[in-house]
Amino acid sequence: MQIGLVAEPYSQLRADALITYVFDAENRFDDVLQEINREMNGRLESLAASGELTGKSLETVLVHFPQGLAAQRLLLVGAGKPGNFSAADLRKIAGAALRYLKFRGATKIVFLAREGERGPEAAQAVVEGLVVADFESDKYRSDKKKHEVESVSLAGFDTGLGADLVSAVEQGRVIAESQNFARDLINEPSNRLTPRMLAARAETMAKEAGLSVEILDERKISELKMGALIGVAQGSVEPPRVIVLRYTPKNARPGGPVLGLVGKAVTFDTGGISIKPANNMEKMKYDMGGGATMLGAMRALAALKPSIPVIAVIPSTENMPGGRAQKPGDVQVAMSGKTIEVINTDAEGRLILADGIFYARKVGCTHLIDAATLTGAIEVALANVNVGAFGTPREYLDQFLASAKAVGEKMWPMPIDDEYEEMIKSNIADIRNTGSGKGGGAITAAWFLKEFAEDTPWIHLDIAATCWIDEGRPWLAKGPTGVAIRSIVDFAMKM
Ligand code: BES
Ligand code: MN
Ligand code: ZN
Repeated sequence: MQIGLVAEPYSQLRADALITYVFDAENRFDDVLQEINREMNGRLESLAASGELTGKSLETVLVHFPQGLAAQRLLLVGAGKPGNFSAADLRKIAGAALRYLKFRGATKIVFLAREGERGPEAAQAVVEGLVVADFESDKYRSDKKKHEVESVSLAGFDTGLGADLVSAVEQGRVIAESQNFARDLINEPSNRLTPRMLAARAETMAKEAGLSVEILDERKISELKMGALIGVAQGSVEPPRVIVLRYTPKNARPGGPVLGLVGKAVTFDTGGISIKPANNMEKMKYDMGGGATMLGAMRALAALKPSIPVIAVIPSTENMPGGRAQKPGDVQVAMSGKTIEVINTDAEGRLILADGIFYARKVGCTHLIDAATLTGAIEVALANVNVGAFGTPREYLDQFLASAKAVGEKMWPMPIDDEYEEMIKSNIADIRNTGSGKGGGAITAAWFLKEFAEDTPWIHLDIAATCWIDEGRPWLAKGPTGVAIRSIVDFAMKM
C-alpha cells in the first residue's frame, strides 16, 4: 500500500473513495464539509436531518457519486464530540475507514485532512492507523480474498511544513510496519516458530534494519548458568535461545543511560507438568508476544535512531511436559544466584524473564522495560482494554504512561506494594514462582520479576489480555494487536 502526501485540491483527485470525518455537533458542516455540502446542494444536511448521519464515533456513511468530487465515493466517518478529539481518534478513524473501504473493493483512496489536524502529528497518526488496519491474519489461507488497497493519498495536510510533514509520514509508516512485523510473528503457529526459528527471524530483521545481533545457544546459556530458563526449557526437545539485539547511536554519551528491552518469548506454553486444560490451549502459540513486541520496537528504533543505546534481550523456549521436564517442587538456581522453588511449572514466563532481566543488567542496561503475556490474572483485573503497567520508581512508570497516552495505547498503573512480596516467600528457597493463591496473581508475578530487576528502574507490561483479540475492531483485525510497541518507541525516543 502506497501512502503519499498530495498538494492538489481534494475535489479534483480521482479515486475510488475519499475519506473524511464528521463531528457529532450542531455545526458539523464547517470547513471542508461545508464546501462539499454546498457542491452537493445540501445533500449532507439532508442526510443529517434524516438521522442517517449523526457524527457519532466511528459511524460510517457512504455517499456514491458525490457531486463536485472526482472521487467515486465519499466516506464520512463519525468523529464523536469535538471537545477532546485527539490523534488517537484520528488513528482509529483512518483505520476504520480503510477496513470499511478495502472490503468493498476500493483500491485507490484519498484521505482528506480537516481544520486543526493538518500537521505532522495528525499525518503520522493517520498513516499508523492505515497501515495497522491493513494487516490481516490470512498468511496460511489458500483461498485468501484479495482486498488490496493500492494507494492512499493524503490530501489537505499543511504541505507548507515540508520536511517535517514528510518525515512524520515516514515515521508513522516505519512504526506501523514494525507493529505488523511483530503481529506476523505472534500469528505464527509453534511448529513454524520454534525458539531457533524465532532467532533466525530476529537475525534477518536485525541485518536488514542495521542492528547488531547475538544469539545465545543452549551451550552459551548453560555457560552463563541461566538456571531458571534452563529449568523451563528442559521439558522440550527444542533447545532454548536468548536473542540479543543492540542499537548503538553514533554519539552515545559515555556513562549515559542504556535502555534494556526484555521480552518473554515462550513459543508454546503447554503449562509443562502443571499442564493446561485442552480448551483454548492452541492460543498459547502467542506466548511469545512480549518477545515479538521487543523485536518490533527494535525494528522501529533502528530507523528512528534514539539518542541512547538500546539492548533487547529475548529469552525464548517452549514450555513442554517432556520426560526431563522440571516438576512442581523443584528448586532452580537463577543466573543471579537466587534460588527458586517451582511451585507451578505453568508460571514459566517469570522464570525465563528472571534470567533475561538479570542478563540485561549484566550487559549494562541501566533502565529496563519488560513485556510479557505473563498472567491470566491481568485479564481478571483489566479485561482486554488496558495493558497492566507495573514499575519502580513511580516517576519512571509515570513517564512511560505519558508516552502510552501520547501514542493512544491504553495502559493502567498497577500496585507493587511491599506486602505482595511476602506472598512469594518460599519455605525452602529464596522465592517461589507463584503467589499464595489468595488473589493478586498479576502483582505477585510482577514482584517475582522485581526480585531480579532490584533497584534498576524497571517497567513491566503484562500484555496477556491485550496482545491478542478474539474479536476484530472496526480499525483492527482480530488476532495479534502489536500493543505496546508504539509506547516503547515513543518512550525510547524521549529518553
Ligand atoms: N502464558 C500464561 C499466561 C497467559 C494466560 C497468557 C492467558 C495469555 C492468555 C502464563 O505462562 C501462565 O500460564 N500463567 C499462569 C500463572 C499461574 C500458574 C500462577 C496463569 O496466569 O494462570
Ligand atoms: Mn504458563
Ligand atoms: Zn506462559
